[in-house]
Amino acid sequence: MTESTTEKSVKIGRGNQQSEFPVLEGTIGPDVIDIRKLYSATGHFTYDPGFTSTASCRSKITYIDGEAGLLLHRGYRIEELAERSNFLETCYLILFGELPKADEYKKFVDGVTNHTMIHDQINYLFRGFRRDAHPMAVMVAVVGALSAFYYEDLDTQDPKHRLIASYRLIAKIPTIAAMAYKYSVGQPFLYPRNDLNYAENFLYMMFGVPCEPWKEKPVLSKALDTIFILHADHEQNASTSTVRLVGSTGASPYAAISAGIASLWGPAHGGANEAVVNMLEEIGTVDRIPEFLARAKDKDDPFRLMGFGHRVYKNYDPRAGVLKASADEVLDELGKGGEPKLAIARELERIALEDAYFQERKLFPNVDFYSGIILEAMGIPTKMFTAIFALARTVGWIAQWNEMIEDPEQKIGRPRQLYTGPAERSYVPLDRRG
Ligand code: ACO
Repeated sequence: MTESTTEKSVKIGRGNQQSEFPVLEGTIGPDVIDIRKLYSATGHFTYDPGFTSTASCRSKITYIDGEAGLLLHRGYRIEELAERSNFLETCYLILFGELPKADEYKKFVDGVTNHTMIHDQINYLFRGFRRDAHPMAVMVAVVGALSAFYYEDLDTQDPKHRLIASYRLIAKIPTIAAMAYKYSVGQPFLYPRNDLNYAENFLYMMFGVPCEPWKEKPVLSKALDTIFILHADHEQNASTSTVRLVGSTGASPYAAISAGIASLWGPAHGGANEAVVNMLEEIGTVDRIPEFLARAKDKDDPFRLMGFGHRVYKNYDPRAGVLKASADEVLDELGKGGEPKLAIARELERIALEDAYFQERKLFPNVDFYSGIILEAMGIPTKMFTAIFALARTVGWIAQWNEMIEDPEQKIGRPRQLYTGPAERSYVPLDRRG
C-alpha cells in the first residue's frame, strides 16, 4: 500500500554533470520524481507557480484521477460513500483509514457529540462583530480564537492530544457556523442538541427558535448530510495545503484550521458555490445564457463561468454528478421542482458542454455548480454556503494535519523562489535621488 522507489530514475544535467534522481511510485496515480536533493546536486531549484506539477507530501487519505473523474477516500468511491455511508462514518474513515466496526462507530459518534458545546466565553466574541459581517469572516476569527481557549492539553506531538483537538473541531464547527448565522439575523444562539444527528443538530441550531418546539426535517438533514460527505476532503487543494503549511510550523491546529477557512473563502475555491447562485440570479432567464457564455469566453472580460473548471478534474467532477442527480430529488421533495435556477443551471451546463471553448479546455461542472442550488432550496442563505463547505471540510483538514505530523519526513513548509528583483545596489540619500 505504501509508495516505493521504483527501478526508474530520471537524469538531470548534461554530459558528466548529470545527476540521477529516484522515481517514487504510489499505489495508483502518476509516479513522482524525488527531487529533494536537486539543489545540493545541481544548484538549481524547480519553478512551479501554483504547484501544478508538484507533489508536496505523501498521503494515504484521498485519491483523485482528474482525467477519469474519479474520487476515492481511503479507496472508497465518493459516489458509494454518498449513497451508503453517512457523514460521521465518512469522517471516521477519513481520519482513521478504515470503515468503523459498530462499537468503534458508536464510540466515535459519542466522542464527537460530547464536544459540541463551545466555551461560553466565546459568546462575547460574537457580540464584537457587526451584524452584517460575512459568516466566513466570523468563522476565521472564532475558530482561530479556539486556540486561546483550548491550549493546555495541546502538545501537537502527542497523538492523544491531537485526537481531542480533532474531536473538538469536528464537533464545534457546526455550532460556530450556526452561531455566525444566528448572530447575523439577530436571533438567540441555540445550544447544540446531542439527541439529534450531526446534520439535524446543525439545522436545529440554524433554524430552531427557543419559543417553538423543533420539528425534525429528515429530507433536509439527509440532503445536508450528503453535501457534507461530498465536501469532506479533496487532497492537497489550496485550503488543505494552507492547513498543512501552517501546521508544519507546530502552530495550534485551531489556528491552522482558521487559516484553512480563510483560504477556502476565495471565489476561486470554496466561495464559488455562493458565486454560482449569484451568477444564476444575474442570468435570470434561459434566453440570456448565450450572452453569459460569450462573456466567459471573452479574454477581455474577467467574467468566468462559476462552478465550471477545476485544477485537477479534466472530466465531470464526480461530486457534481451526485449533486446533479440529487438536485431534482431534493427540490421535488421540498416542493420546489420548478425552481428557475435549476432549469438555468441545467441548460447552461448542456450548452457549455457542447461548446468548443469548454470542450477544448476540458471545463466541466465542479462540486459548486449544483450544491448552491440545493442549499438555497433548503432555505440556507447564500452567505452561509461557504461556511457549510468549511464545516464539512474540517475533517479533511484535520486528517491531513494529523497525517503530516505523523510523517517522519515532514519538514516545515518553505518553498524557494526565482528572484527577479534588482541585484545588490547602494543606498542613495534622499537629496541625491533623481
Ligand atoms: N470560465 C471560463 N473560462 C475558464 C473557466 C471558467 N470557469 N475556468 C477556466 N477557464 C479557462 C481559462 O481562461 C484558461 O483559458 P486559456 O487557456 O485560454 O487562457 C483555461 O480555461 C485554463 O484555466 P486556468 O485558470 O489556467 O485553470 P486553473 O486550473 O488555474 O483554474 C479554477 C481552476 C480556479 C477552478 C478555474 O477553472 C476557475 O476559476 N473556475 C471558476 C471558479 C470555480 O468554480 N471554482 C471552484 C473550484 S472547485 C473548489 O474549489 C471546490
